[in-house]
Amino acid sequence: MLKINNLSSRYAQVKVLNKVTLKVKEGEILGLLGRNGAGKSTLLKSIMGLVEVVSGSISLDENILSEQQAHNIPKYGIGYVPQGRRLFPELMVEENLKMGLLVRDSSTDVLDWVLSLFPLLKSRMKQKSGTLSGGEQQMVATARALCLQPKYLLMDEPSEGLMPSMTETILETVEKLKTENVGILLVEQKIEGTLRVSDRIVFMENGSISEESDPQKLAENPESLMKYVGVKARY
Ligand SMILES: Nc1ncnc2c1ncn2[C@@H]1O[C@H](COP(=O)(O)OP(=O)(O)O)[C@@H](O)[C@H]1O
Ligand SMILES: [Mg+2]
Repeated sequence: MLKINNLSSRYAQVKVLNKVTLKVKEGEILGLLGRNGAGKSTLLKSIMGLVEVVSGSISLDENILSEQQAHNIPKYGIGYVPQGRRLFPELMVEENLKMGLLVRDSSTDVLDWVLSLFPLLKSRMKQKSGTLSGGEQQMVATARALCLQPKYLLMDEPSEGLMPSMTETILETVEKLKTENVGILLVEQKIEGTLRVSDRIVFMENGSISEESDPQKLAENPESLMKYVGVKARY
Protein backbone atom coordinates (compact mmCIF):
# COMPACT_ATOMS: atom_id res chain seq x y z
CA MET A 1 0.00 0.00 0.00
CA LEU A 2 1.12 3.56 -0.73
CA LYS A 3 0.57 5.56 2.44
CA ILE A 4 0.83 9.27 2.96
CA ASN A 5 0.72 10.04 6.62
CA ASN A 6 0.17 13.52 8.05
CA LEU A 7 2.34 15.03 5.34
CA SER A 8 3.25 18.70 5.29
CA SER A 9 5.57 20.04 2.62
CA ARG A 10 6.77 23.34 1.23
CA TYR A 11 8.57 25.26 -1.48
CA ALA A 12 11.31 27.37 0.19
CA GLN A 13 9.36 29.45 2.71
CA VAL A 14 5.91 28.65 1.36
CA LYS A 15 4.13 25.81 3.11
CA VAL A 16 1.71 24.18 0.67
CA LEU A 17 0.57 20.80 2.01
CA ASN A 18 -0.90 20.67 5.47
CA LYS A 19 -1.19 17.29 7.21
CA VAL A 20 -2.30 15.24 4.24
CA THR A 21 -3.24 11.63 4.99
CA LEU A 22 -4.07 9.31 2.12
CA LYS A 23 -3.79 5.67 1.12
CA VAL A 24 -3.74 4.04 -2.30
CA LYS A 25 -4.12 0.28 -2.42
CA GLU A 26 -2.66 -1.99 -5.06
CA GLY A 27 -4.86 -2.05 -8.12
CA GLU A 28 -7.00 0.81 -6.90
CA ILE A 29 -7.77 4.02 -8.76
CA LEU A 30 -7.94 7.00 -6.44
CA GLY A 31 -9.23 10.17 -8.09
CA LEU A 32 -7.90 13.42 -6.62
CA LEU A 33 -9.96 16.49 -7.45
CA GLY A 34 -9.64 20.12 -6.44
CA ARG A 35 -9.36 23.65 -7.74
CA ASN A 36 -6.25 25.11 -9.31
CA GLY A 37 -3.69 25.88 -6.65
CA ALA A 38 -5.16 23.40 -4.13
CA GLY A 39 -1.86 21.50 -3.93
CA LYS A 40 -2.56 18.43 -6.08
CA SER A 41 0.65 18.64 -8.12
CA THR A 42 2.61 19.43 -4.97
CA LEU A 43 1.33 16.21 -3.41
CA LEU A 44 2.53 14.14 -6.37
CA LYS A 45 5.87 15.97 -6.40
CA SER A 46 6.22 15.33 -2.66
CA ILE A 47 5.74 11.59 -3.21
CA MET A 48 8.47 11.73 -5.87
CA GLY A 49 10.83 13.52 -3.47
CA LEU A 50 10.79 16.72 -5.53
CA VAL A 51 9.40 18.97 -2.81
CA GLU A 52 10.74 19.39 0.72
CA VAL A 53 8.81 17.39 3.30
CA VAL A 54 8.46 19.35 6.55
CA SER A 55 6.77 16.66 8.61
CA GLY A 56 4.88 13.40 8.22
CA SER A 57 5.88 10.49 6.01
CA ILE A 58 5.32 8.66 2.74
CA SER A 59 5.73 4.90 2.64
CA LEU A 60 5.33 2.08 0.17
CA ASP A 61 4.74 -1.25 1.90
CA GLU A 62 7.64 -1.47 4.38
CA ASN A 63 9.80 1.19 2.71
CA ILE A 64 9.81 4.80 3.86
CA LEU A 65 10.02 6.83 0.67
CA SER A 66 10.19 10.20 2.39
CA GLU A 67 13.67 9.25 3.68
CA GLN A 68 14.88 8.58 0.13
CA GLN A 69 16.42 10.92 -2.39
CA ALA A 70 14.34 11.77 -5.44
CA HIS A 71 16.41 9.68 -7.88
CA ASN A 72 15.74 6.53 -5.83
CA ILE A 73 11.95 6.81 -5.63
CA PRO A 74 11.17 5.35 -9.10
CA LYS A 75 13.26 2.28 -8.23
CA TYR A 76 10.69 1.37 -5.60
CA GLY A 77 8.12 1.09 -8.35
CA ILE A 78 6.49 4.50 -8.43
CA GLY A 79 5.88 5.87 -11.91
CA TYR A 80 5.16 9.56 -12.37
CA VAL A 81 3.57 11.31 -15.33
CA PRO A 82 4.03 15.00 -14.60
CA GLN A 83 1.60 17.73 -15.53
CA GLY A 84 2.58 19.05 -18.96
CA ARG A 85 4.20 15.71 -19.91
CA ARG A 86 7.87 16.82 -19.77
CA LEU A 87 9.21 14.73 -22.60
CA PHE A 88 12.57 15.31 -24.22
CA PRO A 89 11.19 16.88 -27.43
CA GLU A 90 14.36 16.39 -29.46
CA LEU A 91 14.54 12.69 -28.64
CA MET A 92 12.74 10.04 -30.61
CA VAL A 93 9.86 8.21 -28.97
CA GLU A 94 12.09 5.13 -28.76
CA GLU A 95 14.77 7.08 -26.90
CA ASN A 96 12.28 8.54 -24.45
CA LEU A 97 11.01 5.05 -23.68
CA LYS A 98 14.53 3.64 -23.31
CA MET A 99 15.22 6.28 -20.65
CA GLY A 100 12.24 4.83 -18.80
CA LEU A 101 13.62 1.29 -19.13
CA LEU A 102 17.02 2.35 -17.78
CA VAL A 103 15.62 3.56 -14.45
CA ARG A 104 15.05 0.01 -13.27
CA ASP A 105 17.08 -1.96 -15.82
CA SER A 106 13.83 -3.23 -17.29
CA SER A 107 14.08 -5.65 -20.19
CA THR A 108 12.69 -5.29 -23.69
CA ASP A 109 9.80 -7.60 -22.65
CA VAL A 110 8.61 -4.66 -20.59
CA LEU A 111 8.76 -2.46 -23.66
CA ASP A 112 6.62 -5.01 -25.53
CA TRP A 113 4.07 -4.94 -22.71
CA VAL A 114 3.99 -1.13 -22.74
CA LEU A 115 3.59 -1.01 -26.51
CA SER A 116 0.72 -3.49 -26.28
CA LEU A 117 -1.07 -0.86 -24.18
CA PHE A 118 -0.28 1.88 -26.71
CA PRO A 119 -0.11 0.10 -30.09
CA LEU A 120 -0.19 3.42 -31.94
CA LEU A 121 3.28 4.24 -30.63
CA LYS A 122 4.78 1.31 -32.54
CA SER A 123 4.55 3.32 -35.73
CA ARG A 124 5.98 6.45 -34.07
CA MET A 125 9.14 5.02 -32.54
CA LYS A 126 11.55 6.93 -34.79
CA GLN A 127 9.66 10.21 -34.63
CA LYS A 128 10.91 13.11 -32.50
CA SER A 129 8.61 13.37 -29.48
CA GLY A 130 8.20 17.12 -29.87
CA THR A 131 6.54 16.65 -33.27
CA LEU A 132 3.75 14.38 -31.95
CA SER A 133 0.20 15.52 -31.22
CA GLY A 134 -0.72 16.31 -27.60
CA GLY A 135 -2.49 12.99 -27.19
CA GLU A 136 0.42 11.04 -28.60
CA GLN A 137 2.82 12.92 -26.33
CA GLN A 138 0.66 11.97 -23.36
CA MET A 139 0.86 8.35 -24.48
CA VAL A 140 4.65 8.56 -24.62
CA ALA A 141 4.83 10.18 -21.18
CA THR A 142 2.59 7.48 -19.72
CA ALA A 143 4.41 4.72 -21.58
CA ARG A 144 7.76 6.02 -20.31
CA ALA A 145 6.52 5.89 -16.71
CA LEU A 146 5.23 2.35 -17.28
CA CYS A 147 8.63 1.20 -18.55
CA LEU A 148 9.71 0.86 -14.93
CA GLN A 149 6.88 -1.61 -14.25
CA PRO A 150 5.46 0.50 -11.47
CA LYS A 151 3.26 -0.83 -8.68
CA TYR A 152 1.81 2.66 -8.50
CA LEU A 153 1.39 5.32 -11.11
CA LEU A 154 0.92 9.01 -10.30
CA MET A 155 -0.80 10.86 -13.14
CA ASP A 156 -1.08 14.65 -13.08
CA GLU A 157 -3.87 15.91 -15.33
CA PRO A 158 -3.17 13.49 -18.18
CA SER A 159 -6.09 14.77 -20.24
CA GLU A 160 -5.11 18.44 -20.03
CA GLY A 161 -5.46 20.05 -23.45
CA LEU A 162 -6.56 16.85 -25.19
CA MET A 163 -9.56 16.35 -27.40
CA PRO A 164 -12.34 14.16 -25.99
CA SER A 165 -11.43 11.05 -27.99
CA MET A 166 -7.86 11.20 -26.67
CA THR A 167 -9.11 11.73 -23.13
CA GLU A 168 -11.13 8.53 -23.57
CA THR A 169 -8.03 6.65 -24.72
CA ILE A 170 -6.14 7.79 -21.63
CA LEU A 171 -9.00 6.75 -19.34
CA GLU A 172 -9.21 3.37 -21.05
CA THR A 173 -5.52 2.88 -20.37
CA VAL A 174 -6.08 3.76 -16.73
CA GLU A 175 -8.76 1.08 -16.55
CA LYS A 176 -6.52 -1.45 -18.27
CA LEU A 177 -3.73 -0.77 -15.78
CA LYS A 178 -6.14 -1.42 -12.95
CA THR A 179 -6.70 -4.91 -14.32
CA GLU A 180 -2.90 -5.34 -14.24
CA ASN A 181 -3.04 -4.48 -10.52
CA VAL A 182 -1.29 -1.10 -10.84
CA GLY A 183 -2.52 1.38 -8.21
CA ILE A 184 -3.22 4.81 -9.68
CA LEU A 185 -3.37 8.22 -8.11
CA LEU A 186 -5.19 10.22 -10.76
CA VAL A 187 -5.30 14.01 -10.62
CA GLU A 188 -7.80 15.34 -13.10
CA GLN A 189 -9.98 18.26 -14.10
CA LYS A 190 -12.29 16.20 -16.29
CA ILE A 191 -14.72 15.26 -13.59
CA GLU A 192 -17.12 13.01 -15.40
CA GLY A 193 -14.44 10.63 -16.68
CA THR A 194 -12.65 10.67 -13.32
CA LEU A 195 -15.81 9.65 -11.47
CA ARG A 196 -16.36 6.89 -13.98
CA VAL A 197 -12.97 5.20 -13.61
CA SER A 198 -12.15 5.87 -9.93
CA ASP A 199 -12.80 3.52 -7.02
CA ARG A 200 -12.68 6.40 -4.54
CA ILE A 201 -12.52 10.17 -4.81
CA VAL A 202 -10.76 12.59 -2.49
CA PHE A 203 -10.97 16.36 -2.62
CA MET A 204 -8.13 18.69 -1.90
CA GLU A 205 -8.61 22.22 -0.68
CA ASN A 206 -5.92 24.67 0.50
CA GLY A 207 -3.32 21.95 0.81
CA SER A 208 -5.47 19.58 2.83
CA ILE A 209 -7.65 16.60 2.01
CA SER A 210 -11.13 17.75 2.84
CA GLU A 211 -13.35 14.81 2.13
CA GLU A 212 -13.47 11.29 0.75
CA SER A 213 -16.42 10.36 -1.43
CA ASP A 214 -17.91 7.57 -3.39
CA PRO A 215 -17.71 8.35 -7.14
CA GLN A 216 -21.11 6.90 -7.88
CA LYS A 217 -22.81 9.00 -5.22
CA LEU A 218 -21.08 12.11 -6.56
CA ALA A 219 -22.22 11.31 -10.08
CA GLU A 220 -25.80 11.04 -8.85
CA ASN A 221 -25.51 14.24 -6.87
CA PRO A 222 -23.27 16.55 -8.91
CA GLU A 223 -24.21 19.72 -6.97
CA SER A 224 -21.95 18.50 -4.17
CA LEU A 225 -19.01 18.91 -6.55
CA MET A 226 -19.52 22.67 -6.79
CA LYS A 227 -17.91 23.29 -3.42
CA TYR A 228 -14.61 21.71 -4.37
CA VAL A 229 -14.22 22.15 -8.07
CA GLY A 230 -16.19 25.32 -8.61
CA VAL A 231 -17.86 24.23 -11.80
CA LYS A 232 -21.13 22.63 -12.55
CA ALA A 233 -20.39 19.10 -13.69
CA ARG A 234 -22.42 17.94 -16.68
CA TYR A 235 -23.94 14.50 -16.99
N1 LIG B 1 7.71 25.94 -7.50
C1 LIG B 1 6.88 26.59 -6.65
N2 LIG B 1 7.35 27.52 -5.80
C2 LIG B 1 6.54 28.15 -4.92
N3 LIG B 1 5.21 27.93 -4.83
C3 LIG B 1 4.69 27.03 -5.67
C4 LIG B 1 5.48 26.30 -6.62
N4 LIG B 1 4.66 25.47 -7.32
C5 LIG B 1 3.42 25.64 -6.80
N5 LIG B 1 3.43 26.58 -5.83
C6 LIG B 1 2.26 27.02 -5.06
O1 LIG B 1 1.75 25.92 -4.35
C7 LIG B 1 0.33 25.95 -4.34
C8 LIG B 1 -0.22 24.64 -4.87
O2 LIG B 1 0.15 24.49 -6.25
P1 LIG B 1 -0.09 23.15 -7.06
O3 LIG B 1 0.34 22.01 -6.22
O4 LIG B 1 0.55 23.32 -8.38
O5 LIG B 1 -1.68 23.14 -7.20
P2 LIG B 1 -2.63 22.31 -8.17
O6 LIG B 1 -1.83 21.25 -8.83
O7 LIG B 1 -3.70 21.76 -7.27
O8 LIG B 1 -3.20 23.29 -9.15
C9 LIG B 1 -0.09 27.17 -5.15
O9 LIG B 1 -0.37 28.22 -4.26
C10 LIG B 1 1.14 27.47 -5.97
O10 LIG B 1 1.23 28.84 -6.23
MG1 LIG C 1 -1.43 20.89 -10.84
